[in-house]
Amino acid sequence: MFSNDFIWGTSTAAYQIEGSPLADGASPSIWHEFSHHKGRIKNNHHGDIACDHYHHYPEDIGHLKELGVKAYRFSVAWPRIVPQAGAINSKGIDYYRRIVDLLLEAGIEPYITLFHWDTPLWLESQGGFRKRQSVDYLAEYGNILFQALGDRVENWITINEPMVYSILGYVKGEHAPGRKNDLRGMFSAAHYLLLSHSRLVNIFRSAVPNGRIGITQAQIWTMPHNPERAKDMRAAGIMDELLNRLYIDPLILGKYPEKVLQIFGRFLPTGWEEDLPKMQAPFDFVGINYYTSHRYRYSPFTPFTHARQTPITGVESSAMWEIYPQGLYNLLIRLKNEYGNPDCLITENGYPLIEVPGADPLQDHERISYLYEHIAVAARAIKEGVNLKGYFIWSLLDNFEWQHGYDMRFGLIRVDFNTLKREWRRSAHWFRDLIKSGGPDR
Ligand code: FCB
Repeated sequence: MFSNDFIWGTSTAAYQIEGSPLADGASPSIWHEFSHHKGRIKNNHHGDIACDHYHHYPEDIGHLKELGVKAYRFSVAWPRIVPQAGAINSKGIDYYRRIVDLLLEAGIEPYITLFHWDTPLWLESQGGFRKRQSVDYLAEYGNILFQALGDRVENWITINEPMVYSILGYVKGEHAPGRKNDLRGMFSAAHYLLLSHSRLVNIFRSAVPNGRIGITQAQIWTMPHNPERAKDMRAAGIMDELLNRLYIDPLILGKYPEKVLQIFGRFLPTGWEEDLPKMQAPFDFVGINYYTSHRYRYSPFTPFTHARQTPITGVESSAMWEIYPQGLYNLLIRLKNEYGNPDCLITENGYPLIEVPGADPLQDHERISYLYEHIAVAARAIKEGVNLKGYFIWSLLDNFEWQHGYDMRFGLIRVDFNTLKREWRRSAHWFRDLIKSGGPDR
């Protein structure tokens, strides 16, 4: 099922692991600002130290080597590279060059995510992704990195989860930039991020002719609370458009999904129609981050969508989400049937644990069964012809889990946030063995 060149990997993101966000000429990101604002993050945690990967990267790459992963997906902190509009910080570039060189030496393929949400504060103060100029700035930053690292990095991801950035950052206010109910902000951010993606792909083609580039999308399988009820079906359908299709359809099918346009079209920035044809630059793979499914019921009091998510009581769930591996299978099959069967990678899949006193923090059986079940459905999808090329676990290390701070732990490797000591969990041993044997079914 899993061919010899199947890419087993792990994922991380800059702000979540690095620490030292202002070191060596970097400027603050919106996440730096947001997390230092009291009350935004659980326990007022922030990323000042995080896993101190900024200094521990040789050790962490050693762990990757021992795990035997073929690839490592990580992100570059934009404000380390471009600390002010028009500036280039060579110390920031050097830092990532050292990481890349160590990875290559260890025989690990780097997968660089350009944008994993840490917008420079200088850009946010000019309107951030509410403004069209953000596209130029993101493209410029990408070009700097393509020029600097394109000679040694083949695989690139433009943007991580534009859905989460736009909805949690502009509607729910749980993520930076922390705006609430700003639908114009949400749809501008979504639109300009998708436009940036295509712009980056075009620049990449001439900068790194032999490289591969894609985008990473959060995908949530949406279901009706009651499948017998037409109104619940409609609620699940509109949420599918809003959470999933809105972010893929323009890139592959060249249009925004119908119901989203009917209900929310007026919140899109002016000129969006003329942008659509520009959004379809062919790219090399779709990255899928899959964690969960949502169930929706019809709710006349919920504005716009008339859809309300039903709570996850009574279904199998983790500390954060419902567990529904079949949803991953369904989404993969849909990619094949409705989007032309592009090459795809699962760029994130993982399981959160909260530590409880008295329990051994290295025994994470629930995580192993979660991962195993998702790998099993991935295998089924491959068997049915889905062009799935790799699977990356979120995450290599426990880290700063955004609004949840450090309590929500996703690591194969445990981090003691007082001593910064790394320790392998059972799942790390399990993943190493699985990679060694070439996949669960051999
Ligand atoms: C995804 C993010 C990633 C991490 C996981 C748990 O939405 O891309 O940074 O927080 O969720």
